[in-house]
Amino acid sequence: MIKHEIFEKNSIILVIGVLIVVSIGGLVEIAPLFYLESTIEKVKGMRPYSPLELAGRNIYIREGCYNCHSQMVRPLRDEVERYGHYSLAAESMYDHPFQWGSKRTGPDLARLGGKYSDEWHRAHMIDPRAVVPESVMPGYPFLADTELDYKYIADDLKANAIVGVPYTDEMIANAVIDVQAQVDPDSDYYDDFMARYPKAQVRDFDGNPEIISELDALTAYMQVLGTLVDFSVYNAEENYR
Ligand code: HEC
Repeated sequence: MIKHEIFEKNSIILVIGVLIVVSIGGLVEIAPLFYLESTIEKVKGMRPYSPLELAGRNIYIREGCYNCHSQMVRPLRDEVERYGHYSLAAESMYDHPFQWGSKRTGPDLARLGGKYSDEWHRAHMIDPRAVVPESVMPGYPFLADTELDYKYIADDLKANAIVGVPYTDEMIANAVIDVQAQVDPDSDYYDDFMARYPKAQVRDFDGNPEIISELDALTAYMQVLGTLVDFSVYNAEENYR
């Protein structure tokens, strides 16, 4: 009698056998990704979002921008030529939840930072057709007039710290001050803020110094996207060999 006859004559045993074999394969392939250091290679320049950027990210999620925009440049030639260097795993390691998206009604935003001026973003957010006549993106004019509610921002940093984002106690304790410091280049907290969040951009993002608006936060977030890793020194060849 052939040994595997039992599998061939009994479908339930065959299914159980298949499940066992497939789960061994799955374990061998998937389990190591959770503890291997090289799953997310360390990349210089990545830091957690500043409190203002994080608040902007919350608005991005609240308004559902991810329904029309992706934040992941795939390693394909047309994408790299249009958007810039393909996305690295490390670039979204502090994103909870990640914003890769699944649909592009509008363009990918992973490398948006620095592409446009704050003024452009303000005009575009208030009425996209004012700067891109054929745009089908909805306007979000209320963001510029709505004061940012950041009283719980420290809790937000805390929650991110629990899931592994390296926010320190100092960052959490200063979260509210750091929101204010990022929109005011003349504040006394400038140096402390910059030490906590290297490469952060500090200015009045929405062009209205009267209030810290939701547009301030969203613009700070849009302007940091894709700017933390310096690809002029990041040698992809070397890292991927
Ligand atoms: C219904 C789909 C839709 C939604 C929702 C949407 N967008 Fe867009 N977005 C577009 C389209 C289409 C374009 C391309 C035309 C244009 O520039 O307006 C675009 C363009 C952009 C651009 C310019 C990108 C570039 O590289 O030129 C930015 C920035 C942007 N959107 C941000 C946002 C933000 C932030 C939100 C959420 C507050 C948002 N979008 C929501 C469809 C959308």
